[in-house]
Amino acid sequence: MTSAPDYAEKIPNNVDLAGDRRLQRALESWQPNFLSWWESMGPTLPTRDVYLRTAVNVGREGWAHFGHVAMRDYRWGIFLAERDPDRRIGFGEHRGEPPWQKVPGEYRSELRRLIVIQGDTEPASVEQQRNLGATAPSLYDLRNLFQVNVEEGRHLWAMVYLLHAYFGREGREEAEELLHRNSGSQDAPRILGAFNEETPDWLSFFMFTYFTDRDGKYQLGTLKESAFDPLSRTCEFMLKEEAHHMMVGTTGVDRVVERTAQLMTSHDTDEVAARGGIPLDVIQKYLNFHYSVSLDLFGGETSTNVANYYTAGLKGRWLEDRRRDDHRLTSDSIMVDALDEDGQIGQTEVAALVGLNTDLRGEYINDCQGGVKRWNRILEGAGLESRLRLPHVAFNRKVGAFAGIEATPDGERLPAQEWERRKGEWLPTEVDKTHVRSLMRPVHERGKIAAWIAPPRNGINGKPFDYEYVHLT
Ligand SMILES: [Fe+2]
Ligand SMILES: [Fe+2]
Repeated sequence: MTSAPDYAEKIPNNVDLAGDRRLQRALESWQPNFLSWWESMGPTLPTRDVYLRTAVNVGREGWAHFGHVAMRDYRWGIFLAERDPDRRIGFGEHRGEPPWQKVPGEYRSELRRLIVIQGDTEPASVEQQRNLGATAPSLYDLRNLFQVNVEEGRHLWAMVYLLHAYFGREGREEAEELLHRNSGSQDAPRILGAFNEETPDWLSFFMFTYFTDRDGKYQLGTLKESAFDPLSRTCEFMLKEEAHHMMVGTTGVDRVVERTAQLMTSHDTDEVAARGGIPLDVIQKYLNFHYSVSLDLFGGETSTNVANYYTAGLKGRWLEDRRRDDHRLTSDSIMVDALDEDGQIGQTEVAALVGLNTDLRGEYINDCQGGVKRWNRILEGAGLESRLRLPHVAFNRKVGAFAGIEATPDGERLPAQEWERRKGEWLPTEVDKTHVRSLMRPVHERGKIAAWIAPPRNGINGKPFDYEYVHLT
């Protein structure tokens, strides 16, 4: 049962932590480690307080509270969506059975692994973004960065809660490891490649929140279907917070494109770098990079592990209950990306179960098209001919069928030498990155904004753009 959260408690929660002293003590002893991680690996810009959303409940109405808080005093809490007493497992061999409230012994290590991999990405992104505050284009953007950071911190709490509550000593050890691995570390890097890349500038941040955080949304969507009910309910609530992260990415890129389009039309040139903007071809290169590394996060086109997870009920499909099939998939098939016998980029048919990574990546790709459409509407509205687009799935891949080959954004295979010679046409070069970084000068004055980005259409929680979202020290 969920209970009303108690904000007088050390760890706000709706899981009746007070009723389980052992668990409460375990989490209370993890909490100082989390805080010292936050102090040493979290945002570096000193602030007095930030206008932040804090999760205080899970109900349809009023689940969050807004107010200025010192970030160190942010109330990272544990919130699971309401338990649905009628819920049934929606797929796999246990379809139709009641979901599990405890971890079945035979799935213990797989479930722990899935939770650890998800949990590892949450603090990783905070680490990747830690220096961005120093170059924020406005107080509004600075606030959004910190909002994303504290919520990723809360998502770590969510995963650590599951590890502590359901996986015994091994779970507690994994929870410690989640604070010991660090993004980009030589000795103990984060588990997934994209989470070891730095986020050095705000264009990268917006692309990251659009493309890479969106991968997280899709992974959470599959875990929300899990037969392990506490995991399902945890992810369901995390998805609520993710919606804001997606908004930050979508509208962030909107505003960069809008500003670039303004500069292009008012000066009648594509060469907006000299006018303090980010050229459209540089935006396209950043898009190409972030999209292609995010496609890698979905893993290989085929996976027997993922097939087994599905059959066992550990991890479902995106919007499983909207699929019109038997939800077991034992006799279905799917087309997946592959190289054909001549080494040409193509597709091949495999059993649907082993192709589930491809299914999820397909859903993700469709979603990403939505962003490109809206950015192109901005260009069209400005009367410009140029358009942005998603590169081909074979472009710049390090994982899966196309990892061993090189291809253009149009999906034409290239010899390695030609790729080396031409990749600067499609991926950010040192010159591009240096230009983007040169624009990253902080605008920390209320109501002001950097010249390379347009102001947002709306503020946060009904506040105007010129609201004092952040008080610096
Ligand atoms: Fe997250
Ligand atoms: Fe996120």
